[in-house]
Amino acid sequence: MVYSQAKVIAGGLAHIPIVIGIFYFIMTFFNKRAIEYAEANKPKKVEKKVEKPVIKAKSAAPAKVEVQKNTSDNSNIQTETPINKGVPNIEKKPMKKKHADVPVNIYRPKAPYEGTVIENYSLLKEGAIGRVNHITFDLKGSDPFLNYVEGQSIGIMPAGQDANGKPHKLRLYSIASTRHGDNFEGNTVSLCVRQLQYEKDGETINGVCSTYLCDIKPGDKVKITGPVGKEMLLPEEEDSNIVMLATGTGIAPMRAYLRRMFEATEKEKNKWNFKGKAWLFMGAPKSANLLYEEDLQRYLSDYPDNFKYTKAISREQQNTKGGRMYIQDRVLESANELFNMIEDEKTHIYLCGLKGMEPGIDEAMTKAAQEKGLNWSDLRPQLKKAGRWHVETY
Ligand code: FAD
Ligand code: A2P
Repeated sequence: MVYSQAKVIAGGLAHIPIVIGIFYFIMTFFNKRAIEYAEANKPKKVEKKVEKPVIKAKSAAPAKVEVQKNTSDNSNIQTETPINKGVPNIEKKPMKKKHADVPVNIYRPKAPYEGTVIENYSLLKEGAIGRVNHITFDLKGSDPFLNYVEGQSIGIMPAGQDANGKPHKLRLYSIASTRHGDNFEGNTVSLCVRQLQYEKDGETINGVCSTYLCDIKPGDKVKITGPVGKEMLLPEEEDSNIVMLATGTGIAPMRAYLRRMFEATEKEKNKWNFKGKAWLFMGAPKSANLLYEEDLQRYLSDYPDNFKYTKAISREQQNTKGGRMYIQDRVLESANELFNMIEDEKTHIYLCGLKGMEPGIDEAMTKAAQEKGLNWSDLRPQLKKAGRWHVETY
């Protein structure tokens, strides 16, 4: 009995290496299968096809940013080194911190800046349709200082409450002044605002914020947020060409660009010696609705080689089909000259105003490109990627 117990134990112990061996064999088999499976399912390296650009592209290096201090003159304006100093073409990798020195969201809706209205006047002439005002706010009291650059927007929080008893949400407005402001002292911001009005069930509805802005008086306090936006910044290069397509208040950022280029005192302040060609296509319903017309005429006579101004006055002029004359009709008329400019890598195109104009502009650009043997649906993404196609519509 003793003998047989010892035999059983010895026999059992003798099986241990066999069990371990079998276990090892199974593990090895499954590990190998797992490695083979992982290898087979590894994401494959995709060979990137580098398409040759149809046109050369010069990226939108940011306009040199002068960071303004809270001051009533410009003696404290610091000039930061621009980030994109070189002239990258579209095959280069995008800069990591593009426009990083452009100020954004200094003031947010939870703690807006309360600016004082300096002036608020109509931009329209006798016989014009609707209401469009130029409104300027004092920024002197802002701390931190609300500085901005040309092409940005600010938010306005209208006074009062919405239908649910909550404070009104902010609305964005393109800044119509340069960073030096209309007084060239670097402590104001101006807007160009059209009052929204439409008919509903026989009743005239007034837009909340645009009506609030058109009605405010000098001395009133207004809640301001921002600045925001990097889409509409000007390039830094003084020899850039700037094509501007604007309808109505879409002129706002363009007014800032044109002041930066052609307004004498502004030029003294900004030291930006614009040497390129600026071409403004402006859409308005009537001549009396043309905005900032006197200034634009002055720039035309002062800078005939650098500034071109083409108007589409929809309710006074007709296109070739007998319909209302829109800026896209003017684009088509100028297709050849415009595309000669676009083929130049120094040319940037800015589109601002009615959202509804985008399909029309695209259609016109398609036709205009065809006349030059180019394909707009290929070209537009290339221009966008190169930072040369800038759109802000609403
Ligand atoms: P709201 O009271 O907000 O009414 C607008 C609403 O009314 C619409 O959402 C729609 O629901 C309704 N509505 C509008 N039209 C009709 C219609 N015909 N029929 C039926 N319902 C209708 N505006 C400027 O004037 N100047 C600028 O420089 C400017 N810049 C802008 C920049 C950006 C980046 C953006 C996004 C917008 C900009 N706007 C600008 C537009 C501005 O932000 C407001 O949208 C505009 O002033 C209307 O606001 P409101 O409060 O007056 O209208
Ligand atoms: P219209 O209103 O005669 O149709 P404003 O903002 O001062 O009203 O100016 C906007 C201008 O843009 C007007 O001349 C207006 O013409 C024009 N417009 C309206 N719709 C379009 C569109 N889809 N494409 C281009 N321009 C347009």
